[in-house]
Parts: sequence; C-alpha cells; structure tokens
Amino acid sequence: MPSDSVPVGIHDLTFRTTSLQLTHAELAGHTGVPLAKYHRGIGQKAMSIPAPDEDVVTMAADAAAAVVGRHGADRIRTLVFATETSIDQAKAGGLYVHSLLGLPPHIRVVELKQACYGATAALQFATALVHRDPDQQVLVLASDIARYDLDSPGEPTQGAAAAAFLVTARPALLEIDTPSGVFTREVMDFWRPNYRTTALVDGRASIDAYLHALTGAFGDYRRRGGATLRDIHTICYHQPFTRMAHKAHHHLLQQAGLPAGPQDIAAALAPTTTYNELLGNSYTASLYVALAALLDSGTPLDGETVGLFSYGSGSVAEFLTATVRPGYRDHLRTEAHHAAVTDRRPVGYAAYRDLHGSGLPTDGSRYATAASTPGPYRLAGIRDHRRLYETNGPAAGPTAATTGTATDRGVPGEGEGGGG
Ligand code: CAA
Repeated sequence: MPSDSVPVGIHDLTFRTTSLQLTHAELAGHTGVPLAKYHRGIGQKAMSIPAPDEDVVTMAADAAAAVVGRHGADRIRTLVFATETSIDQAKAGGLYVHSLLGLPPHIRVVELKQACYGATAALQFATALVHRDPDQQVLVLASDIARYDLDSPGEPTQGAAAAAFLVTARPALLEIDTPSGVFTREVMDFWRPNYRTTALVDGRASIDAYLHALTGAFGDYRRRGGATLRDIHTICYHQPFTRMAHKAHHHLLQQAGLPAGPQDIAAALAPTTTYNELLGNSYTASLYVALAALLDSGTPLDGETVGLFSYGSGSVAEFLTATVRPGYRDHLRTEAHHAAVTDRRPVGYAAYRDLHGSGLPTDGSRYATAASTPGPYRLAGIRDHRRLYETNGPAAGPTAATTGTATDRGVPGEGEGGGG
C-alpha cells in the first residue's frame, strides 16, 4: 500500500575514498602556483588519487560493505549505482558490488548518470520506492573519480570518493522533506565524451552555470512552498572545490537580500567542507560527503532543517531540504570517516603524474594491476575485456574471490602487465 504519511529518508550514510593522496603543497611545489591560490582561492588542501588497483567499484564496495554490515541486506530491494566514471557502457557497476558483497539475488541493480546530480536523482527515486512499500530499503552508491588533464586549470580540483546511503522508512538520520525544486538547462559547461578518460570543462562558464541553476532550483523550491533561507539551519552544496560552496551561498543570500559577508559565509559553511577540502571533487558523491561532514561536525542539528543543493553539469540541479532526526548522533560513522581521510598515503608529484598517465588496456589483453590498496576490495586485473575484482588481504584466495570474473585468479599471479 502506498504510504505518504510514513517519513522516508536516509537511515545510514558513509563514505570511503582512495588510499593515496596528493597534497596541494606538493602540487604547488612543482607547478609554481602560489599555495594560497589552492588553499584560499579554490579552498582545496589535498586530493584523493586512486591506486592502480582502485576504482569506482572498489570504493563503492568498501562504503556499501559498512552499511550492509550494520543493517543486513534482507530488506534491500534496489541498489542504485550513481556515477559519471562508468567502467562499462552496458553493465551497471553496482553488479560487481552486488557480487563482491554477496548480496541476495532479489535486488534490482541499475546505474544512473547525470554528472554530479546522479546520486540526488537516485535519492528521489529511492524515496518514491520506499513510500510505495515502506518495508523495502534502497541502497544508493555514489562513486566517482574526478580527472582533468595534467597542467589544466581543473587539475587541482581532482579527487575521488564513494558515498553509500540507505534509504528507508522511519530513518535514523534525516527525513527527506517535500517539496523540492528542480532546474534543467542544456549547457556545455563540463562533459566527458565516451572516448576520453579526462573531463572537458569551460571553468568560468561552469561556475556561472552552477549559480544560474542554483537560482533556478531554489526559486522552484520556494514557489512550491519550500522554507525560507532563514528557516534552513545549514546548506550543503555540491563542492567541486570548496570555495564554490562559498560562491553559491553568497549568491543565494544576496538574491534574498540577506547579509552576505565572507566571514559569516565561511563560518556557516565550515562544517560542510572539512572532508571535501581534503578529498577533492568526487562529483556525484561530493554533496553526500559534505552532508556527512556536517553531521559529523559536532554542530547540534536535532530537529533542524538542512538544505541540499545538487548540481550536475550539463545541466540538472535540485534544491531540497531534510529534517535531521533527534538522536541522529548515535548513528554516525565519524571515526571511520576520519580514518578514510587520514589513512591515505601521500604520493609525490612524479608518482602522481605516472599514475595519472597510466590506464588499463583496451585491446582485451591480459593485465594484472600492481597490488597496492590496503582496502578490502581490489581490481585485480583485466582479461578478455573483463574487469576482475577480488577481496583483499588474508581473506583473499581462490575460494574467497567473490565476483564471477575474479574467481579466475590466475591472471594477477601470472605477472603479465603489472604496474599501474
Ligand atoms: N591567493 C589567493 N587566491 C588566489 C590567488 C592567490 N595567490 N591566485 C588566484 N586566486 C583566486 C582567484 O582570485 C580566484 O578566485 P575567485 O574565483 O573568487 O575570483 C581563484 O583563486 C581561482 O583562480 P582563477 O580565477 O585564476 O581560476 P583558474 O584558472 O585557476 O580556474 C577553476 C579555476 C575554473 C575553478 C578551475 O579549477 C576549473 O576549471 N575547475 C573545474 C571546473 C569546476 O569545478 N567547475 C565548478 C562548477 S561545475 C560543477 O560544479 C560540476 C563539477 O563537479 C565539475
């Protein structure tokens, strides 16, 4: 039976990232760009860099395993994998996660794309599914690796992360409010043709498009009866670089005729940027990493309304609010989040450029990735155009591999390819 009266929202939220990081201090030391431009101009201090055996699937599986480990999978009927770093034109990346985690077969798995907006579409679709049947749960995985050309203006805004959140009835963290405001406009501000591994972007146009979409989505939200800015405790913005959130908040406050001083804006948004300033852009995961940062920040939010602004270049945007559930702090994963950020190993500039330039073969040849990640899942290699995933560490072994393709563990051990 459809149930509009049951509150639906985010019951659990976590994120994971890669095992390597490049600091902007290291980058600035080689590019000659003043470090202040990175730290203050774009608001970034470090960026996550994938090891050779990490990708959107391994990050997402790591995040998903935490959620499934806490809540089980019995009631999950849908898994949505939101990404713009897709590893296959046909097969959903979520299927590899489904296999790695040994999830039950009675789950529909799909992949969703609209640049950095994909996960928010997934949240709204998930909310509708749970309203239709409050016994069901939806697992949303948002996983992306932001890559721009070396020496391009976008380079310091690279990054990577995967967020996992469970959408349920009577959630422990946040109830998703109605209404929401949406805004769509076709624009070439940022895109990545299928034949490219790095994004193309018109940087300044993308900032203007983001702000234009914010005006449009927030206006739609207000016209549909949404809260005023004064009634919203804190807004989490999509953070391609954290200074973008400051520009966005300034823009909204100015349009509403409210005071918009830089110090007040910095103070208001600081709880939302602590993770992203160290992870870099994680595209569709970024907003949910910002939300995790806010919840983890120690700011008391019980019963408060928080805003979420999602922007996906191209462009689709949505402004929505959520009500934080009393007692939410008992359900956070603050320690794991700090560990994900601080456990990353620093890479030097030369190693970073090597990693950036490396890629997987596209001709079907066998390839074994260098064993690097300490994470629980790894991309072992490629064979016959198939990605081979496996569990990592002591549990790994011929009987422990969980993907259909990774059971063929002869490939990594054969010493072909290697490196990253
Ligand atoms: N000290 C302090 N600040 C400094 C400085 C210094 N020494 N030198 C420069 N700055 C400031 C500049 O004044 C500027 O600030 P304002 O924007 O407030 O004017 C800022 O640092 C950036 O410097 P530039 O204007 O010289 O810009 P850039 O050529 O370095 O490019 C960028 C910046 C356009 C954001 C570029 O990094 C880029 O193209 N990034 C990728 C695109 C992107 O992230 N777009 C965001 C909207 S699209 C979106 O959100 C979707 C998505 O995820 C991609």
